[in-house]
Amino acid sequence: RQGVIVPPVVPQPVIAKLTRAAIFLVVRINPGKESEVAVRGLCADLSSLLRAVGFRDLEARLSCVMGLGSDAWDRLFGHPRPRDLHPFKEIHGVHHAVSTPGDILFHIRSVRMDLCFELASQIMSRLGTAVTTIDEVHGFKYFDDRDLLGFVDGTENPTDHDAVNATTIGQEDPAFAGGSYVITQKYLHDVKRWNSISIPEQENIIGRHKLSDIEQQDSAKAPYAHNVLTTIIEDGEQLEIVRDNMPFGEIGKGEFGTYFIGYARSPHRIEQMLENMFVGRPPGNYDRLLDFSRAATGSLFFLPSATFLDDVSP
Ligand code: HEM
Repeated sequence: RQGVIVPPVVPQPVIAKLTRAAIFLVVRINPGKESEVAVRGLCADLSSLLRAVGFRDLEARLSCVMGLGSDAWDRLFGHPRPRDLHPFKEIHGVHHAVSTPGDILFHIRSVRMDLCFELASQIMSRLGTAVTTIDEVHGFKYFDDRDLLGFVDGTENPTDHDAVNATTIGQEDPAFAGGSYVITQKYLHDVKRWNSISIPEQENIIGRHKLSDIEQQDSAKAPYAHNVLTTIIEDGEQLEIVRDNMPFGEIGKGEFGTYFIGYARSPHRIEQMLENMFVGRPPGNYDRLLDFSRAATGSLFFLPSATFLDDVSP
């Protein structure tokens, strides 16, 4: 029997392979209906802009993910709204996780920074006066995927089916199946102080060996190790996220940073990790990374599926 083929919902390229370059662009939507019309227009046009710039070098694996903050969602689309979308929740623990504004996040990745730059420019010229840039970070990979603290970052990321399962909304929110959530935080490191402690002390803070990137044995890990506090088990299942952190910085300003970006099918698991890091599990047993790293921003965005974005009408 012949029937109509219903295409599946296509997620945005959340789990694109980690790349050597990225631009993280956070913008505010300016007041006025005309700004909203421009942003809705961009939603629908994003895939064609990406195709045009990406086609100039297909091997450079250009990708772009577009996320929307809670207020922006209400302004642009109203009801229904994604079940778990809310502004980033500030945390006052041993250390402070700030919540900072942001209506749209563009996470642009490629092996070539020039392609990232070109796509960001095209997006921003399409948006024109509809938006104001709040934060723009150009990230780079440092040697063998290390952060500026010298540790390899990203090793334990889930891959393939596990990555899809960790990041893609399914039947728990059917109207938004194929979507995802992302939390970003821009961390600034006191690299001088970090480098003044011994390497074994650093390794105990991260829970891995610095040179070889091998995980410490569980029995040898400090209770406050980063990889202990960010492991969340619920009902016997490990709740994973996909990270694509990038170093960034400005030598002249003495700025050495890590742009943290974590994707998940529910923000709850990332929020739990943050609670463990900033407050501690149990409270007081916090993440010592934070004695050397300050979170300067904190935002949460919902990522509709690519199919949803393509179908937005201005
Ligand atoms: C693991 C660095 C912030 C979640 C790691 C690793 C490093 C690292 C070096 C070990 C290698 C790996 O598996 O990737 C950093 C730095 C941060 C930061 C420099 C910012 C200063 C965060 C935040 C979260 C997070 C804010 C979550 C809210 C995780 C998770 C793992 C991990 C889930 C894997 C743990 C495992 O299963 O072994 N991070 N991280 N990280 N990080 Fe972070």
